[in-house]
Amino acid sequence: MKVLVIGSGGREHALAWRISKSPLVERVYSMPGNPGMAQVGESVAAPPDSSLYVQVAERVGADLTVVGPEIPLVAGVVDEFQAAGRAILGPARVAAQLEGSKIYAKKFFQQYRIPTAEFVTVESRGDALKAVRRFGFPVVLKADGLAAGKGVVVVRNQPEAERAIETLGDRLVVEEFLVGEEASFIVLADGRNVLPLPATQDHKAVFEGDQGPNTGGMGAYSDDRILTSEQAAFVLERMIEPAVNATGFTGFLYAGVMLTQAGPKLLEFNVRMGDPEAQPLMHRLKSDLVPVLLAAARGDLTGATLEWSPRPSVCVVLASGGYPGPY
Ligand code: AMP
Ligand code: GLY
Repeated sequence: MKVLVIGSGGREHALAWRISKSPLVERVYSMPGNPGMAQVGESVAAPPDSSLYVQVAERVGADLTVVGPEIPLVAGVVDEFQAAGRAILGPARVAAQLEGSKIYAKKFFQQYRIPTAEFVTVESRGDALKAVRRFGFPVVLKADGLAAGKGVVVVRNQPEAERAIETLGDRLVVEEFLVGEEASFIVLADGRNVLPLPATQDHKAVFEGDQGPNTGGMGAYSDDRILTSEQAAFVLERMIEPAVNATGFTGFLYAGVMLTQAGPKLLEFNVRMGDPEAQPLMHRLKSDLVPVLLAAARGDLTGATLEWSPRPSVCVVLASGGYPGPY
């Protein structure tokens, strides 16, 4: 079979590399791809608009399309493929709102009683400043829309708060600052059932010793000791399952969790595989990924399993000087 991987980052390279090892796969296409992906398959140009991606899948005869980044998912690429009767792995546009809007997501957590940081949503500078006063410092400000991991600022004083509101805009989530270790808990879902992957931990702050600012991710590792089995069960039952059931979620669902003294709290859902979490995960995977991706895309993961190496794995990101600012 032929598999099309959408995206051009390290995550997509890791996925394409693992997919290319499947005996079921005769060819991997990447759109637009990168030099790493070109070593495991063929790169094809990406049309300017994600609504045209399905035409590329048709042209190359892709039997399955796997979407790496959130932007096409939030734009509704899965709905386009489904309307054309082409297999694709990812959530429908409505479910992708869990990542596309922080305000929508926080209201969703509230509705399904998913443990999360205390918050208010605001739509003006005045209300944002009022909310900051209410929480005190440090406090966390989150821009409503997609921001490639750079729309969240932890502010420690009034001038920082004013500057952050200036750059993030008026539509914000203002929330309680949580303390703890973070974990990325990623599952593969078929609309009803979920297959959990091993836990990972990523590192978002750019400098040594977590000396901010936040990036899209400076590295990640995977190790079975990141979550206890009780913590993993809690995340599954209180966070992942309510979201999958409420939205009929298909694809990779990623819970970004803070392990606080009061138990795990959900920071965010991402509606895709993590980057750089995919890199250490794909290295630990021992079994064939493709049948499981196909089963999820077809809506039946019943009985599906994945086999993982017990050994930990790590990914380190090299970034240009200046990142996450201009570089
Ligand atoms: P998010 O995109 O919501 O996951 O936020 C990005 C990063 O900001 C997280 O991975 C955390 O490191 C940090 N962060 C987000 N929300 C909070 C919070 N309520 N308390 C402390 N840190 C947070
Ligand atoms: N590693 C963070 C993310 O994928 O959003």
